[in-house]
Amino acid sequence: MSGLPKVELHLHLEGAAPPAFIAGLAQEKHLDIAGIFDADGNYRYKDFWDFLKVYEAATSALQSPRDYQRLVSAVLEQSAASGVVYCETFLSPDFCGGRDLGAWREYLHAIREAADAAERDMGVTLRGIITCIRHFGPDKARETARCAADTAGEWIVGFGIAGDEKVGAPKDYRWAFDCAREAGLRLTAHAGEWGGPESVRDAVRDLEVERIGHGVRAIEDLALVDELAERGIVLEVCPGSNVALGLYPTFRDHPIAELDRRGVKVTISTDDPPFFHTTMAREYEELHKAFDWDDGQFRKIARQSLDAAFCDADTKAKIAKLLEA
Ligand code: ADE
Ligand code: ZN
Repeated sequence: MSGLPKVELHLHLEGAAPPAFIAGLAQEKHLDIAGIFDADGNYRYKDFWDFLKVYEAATSALQSPRDYQRLVSAVLEQSAASGVVYCETFLSPDFCGGRDLGAWREYLHAIREAADAAERDMGVTLRGIITCIRHFGPDKARETARCAADTAGEWIVGFGIAGDEKVGAPKDYRWAFDCAREAGLRLTAHAGEWGGPESVRDAVRDLEVERIGHGVRAIEDLALVDELAERGIVLEVCPGSNVALGLYPTFRDHPIAELDRRGVKVTISTDDPPFFHTTMAREYEELHKAFDWDDGQFRKIARQSLDAAFCDADTKAKIAKLLEA
């Protein structure tokens, strides 16, 4: 399955950092974050909320534009090895320069340099979606949205929200999403992972997003499933993440196949691959084993993912050729 060309729409940049890479940075900077690793050097966490803490501790080792430049190269090497030809990654000015616009521009410049080099050398195209962090609250989200609006364009193509879905409500972030939309950014929000179907309804109604991060718990309300299908709202589904975090016991129990059968536009992503011991190639393998999905089904989903991508038409046309190959 690693040979099939793939499109990934839901990848947290810091969450894609290999643990050895973060351990190396921590050592260079004399940071003591040894507690986030297990004896084998993998990330260690108990549940989703502990995962968020470990994620933020790991991110504390990324302290400069140069660190992010190295991170992007390491992450895209993994993507290319899985056959990914186009990827959208979540980035946060919260972590890159503490929401200071000048600092954020420097981080973004370094990130783009690494992305351009990877496109040239490895044939994988990257675009960025700026995300605010829900549990940092609406005030910080506004500052993040201002950074997003100021750097919106051909490379920063979207705006979203990640973090603890149980904190606050989507409507608290309305100003931030309006600001991003007015700057021409396309919108996505995490919902229906730790919140039930009502969290998906809230995000669609109050933030007017066209994609939902996860959204899989929509399956608990079939009227909502029909509505998502009718309105063409795209789900950024991350099956391995959901299984690793205990939302579903195995891939076979995951609702992605049922959502697809009911006409919802599903896509496949890894979320935070080393945390969940996954890659895009592994997601494909597991879905093939669980649901007997064949190359035709995966090609349909890759095409659907590209249709839902936030990049411009020229970029889409270039990637479409790679998907047809
Ligand atoms: N940040 C990184 N991964 C996340 C996830 N799966 N849900 C919410 N926030 C996240
Ligand atoms: Zn996510």
